[in-house]
Amino acid sequence: MDIQWYPGHMRKSRHMMRENVALVDMIIELLDARIPMSSRNPDIDELAEGRLRIAALNKADMADGAVTAEWVEFFKRLGVDAIPTDSISGMGFGEITAAAEALTSEKRRRAKARGRIFLPVRAMIVGIPNVGKSTFINKLTGRAAAVASDRPGVTRGRQWIKLREGFELLDTPGILWPNLSKDGGAQDAGLKLALTGAISDDILDTYTLGVKLIETLCVICPDSLRRRYKIEIGDAGPEEVMGLIGEARGFKLKGGVIDVNRAAVTLLDEFRAAKLGRISLETPL
Ligand code: G4P
Repeated sequence: MDIQWYPGHMRKSRHMMRENVALVDMIIELLDARIPMSSRNPDIDELAEGRLRIAALNKADMADGAVTAEWVEFFKRLGVDAIPTDSISGMGFGEITAAAEALTSEKRRRAKARGRIFLPVRAMIVGIPNVGKSTFINKLTGRAAAVASDRPGVTRGRQWIKLREGFELLDTPGILWPNLSKDGGAQDAGLKLALTGAISDDILDTYTLGVKLIETLCVICPDSLRRRYKIEIGDAGPEEVMGLIGEARGFKLKGGVIDVNRAAVTLLDEFRAAKLGRISLETPL
């Protein structure tokens, strides 16, 4: 599967990001809890150097809870505080706030010890498109914050939202592009990003993507397909399973041929809406 990306956008976005990062003490990196590695951008380590960092494993409500717990441990070993969040319900936001609070107190204490004026702690949210940055900011600030455009060049004046005394959040998130270069297994990352909907469908062939999803689910949780579509998989290959799904849903073309393209669209939509259950596509190594 060949995935195209847009270098012009990436360059501009990276530039804006550097400017904003220079203004903050803290970076809250949003990762997709279903694919924490594939939704990371390796540039973040360099970009965030010297800053306090928290990783929010967002959309944790759609991921397998046990696997998410393994990821939290994995990140802890790397020295990164990872907190599972659901930006819609607000799950995990107490912990995020507590971590921010701890930094604020520490900075205040240090400023006092040195006889310096305490400047508010400033934080920003970063992450790849569709990981939930705007939803997260809205939930954290309790109001409709400015929505960042995934298209660069749509620059607004920076605004700081005061969340509490001594703690401010940049209202627009930093957009990171996922690493889709062909080295280091990144094509696999591209596939997972497409399956979760981080990359739009129009640059991919939906039927092929659907077949790949079946292949993946047959390995990690075939029961999710059996339960959702009430089908018997047995020894069937992924394309046959697609046919079974189409048949189960009564998707027929003229002449009674099963409409497998419609089955693929339905399967992908339902997977992305977590109707097949809470499924993690990646586990820590
Ligand atoms: P972005 O700024 O990073 O691009 O993402 P945004 O907040 O727009 O969120 C993308 C989609 O993900 C939205 O769905 C949003 O509701 C959903 N979302 C964000 N955080 C969470 C979460 O923690 N859990 C769940 N279940 N969903 C979350 P949408 O408006 O329906 O957009 P789309 O699905 O049509 O792309």
